Amino acid sequence: MKQKKKLRIGTIGYGFMGWAHADSFDRAGKFFDADYEPVFQTVCARNKENAQDFADRWGYKTVETDWRSVVNSPDVDLIDICVPNNLHADIAIAAAEAGKMVMTEKPLAMTVAEGEKMVAAVKKAGVPNMVWYNYRRIPAVTLAKQVIDSGKLGRIFHLRAQFLQDWTISAAVPQGGTGTWRLDIAAAGSGVTGDLLAHCIDTAMWWNGPITRVCARTETFIKEREHAEHGKVEPVGIDDACVFLCDFENGSLGNFESTRYARGHKAKYFIEINGEHASIAWDLHDLHRLSYFDHKDDSLVRGWRSIHVTDGDQPYMSHWWRPGLSVGYETSFAHQAADFLASLSGNKPVGPTFEDGLQTQKVCEAIIASGKDRSWKDTGASKML
Ligand SMILES: NC(=O)c1ccc[n+]([C@@H]2O[C@H](COP(=O)([O-])OP(=O)(O)OC[C@H]3O[C@@H](n4cnc5c(N)ncnc54)[C@H](O)[C@@H]3O)[C@@H](O)[C@H]2O)c1
Repeated sequence: MKQKKKLRIGTIGYGFMGWAHADSFDRAGKFFDADYEPVFQTVCARNKENAQDFADRWGYKTVETDWRSVVNSPDVDLIDICVPNNLHADIAIAAAEAGKMVMTEKPLAMTVAEGEKMVAAVKKAGVPNMVWYNYRRIPAVTLAKQVIDSGKLGRIFHLRAQFLQDWTISAAVPQGGTGTWRLDIAAAGSGVTGDLLAHCIDTAMWWNGPITRVCARTETFIKEREHAEHGKVEPVGIDDACVFLCDFENGSLGNFESTRYARGHKAKYFIEINGEHASIAWDLHDLHRLSYFDHKDDSLVRGWRSIHVTDGDQPYMSHWWRPGLSVGYETSFAHQAADFLASLSGNKPVGPTFEDGLQTQKVCEAIIASGKDRSWKDTGASKML
């Protein structure tokens, strides 16, 4: 086996994403062949016992309860941020100032202003950086990007996306605290816009270029909820649902919808793009398939194809099992970790960088502003990697 350089990871947070990222680096190290070997150095969370349990499962060497000590540790090369949104900026900026590489969960920040400071910090420090918009690296979604870039779709007319859930319909669900911080504006920054639509926006702009203008309708169906930490009933500041229309720089039209009030839907992420010659659609519930319609096909057999994205010449698949055998949700994170590790050798950034995450943040912020006064807003977003 070739001798590899060690990349010592300090993971901040051991929740849903802490698990996903630990698994991703574990798989990236084993299934991919970068010059860097991920090492689980430190995990940080406020509850030491739980953090220790996580550390034991994944093989982290040490446990910390204060993220500042991880950021300043000489034993850590990469800070991986897996905590609620209100902590991303402070940790990322401190990490960059300490000369560490930084990966952060999405959304990049709470606001554009915060995101700009994060981008400035990683640029000043010259450190590799990435935002975990993982859905780009589901092989079918990556394949779609390749097909779009090949020009097969021709002129693009439409892009539509939905991200639907149903877990906050009950008024008894609290806001804030562990598990329900997503409902607390102070921890999340926004509701479905930053949590769910941000994924669709990242993929949409990666596929189809910048979103230049938005017009949104946001709604908070349940106006007050008990706060999980102190028990007081407080106004709800997040958007429970959001639909928005948009213009893309290339002249195509977008319509997006997200809600946590679509009874029956747990994580329905659907995205479709329609061009002059062909269309592509993808659905998270059938994530290893890409739907493709090509008007240039012989009319006798023309129709939607369901491409089973499992062959060795399709994105990432040569690293996994045998042709015909599918991979799951978790591998999107493994692919991102693998691409990050590979990028360190060439010193060539891979998207989504912090700068790219900032473009999505700009669109999210324009959506929230538009939802307030229901007018069209320019986003100022530019092309991303
Ligand atoms: N890429 C994706 O698909 C995806 C999916 C889910 C969540 N996320 C993002 O990941 C981030 C975390 O979400 P999650 O679902 O893993 O949340 P979670 O509630 O499951 O876990 C949050 C973790 O943060 C820790 N934490 C909170 N405050 C802390 C502090 N001050 N110091 C250290 N640790 C602290 C908690 O102990 C917990 O381990 C969020 O930004 C979220 O938007 C992304």
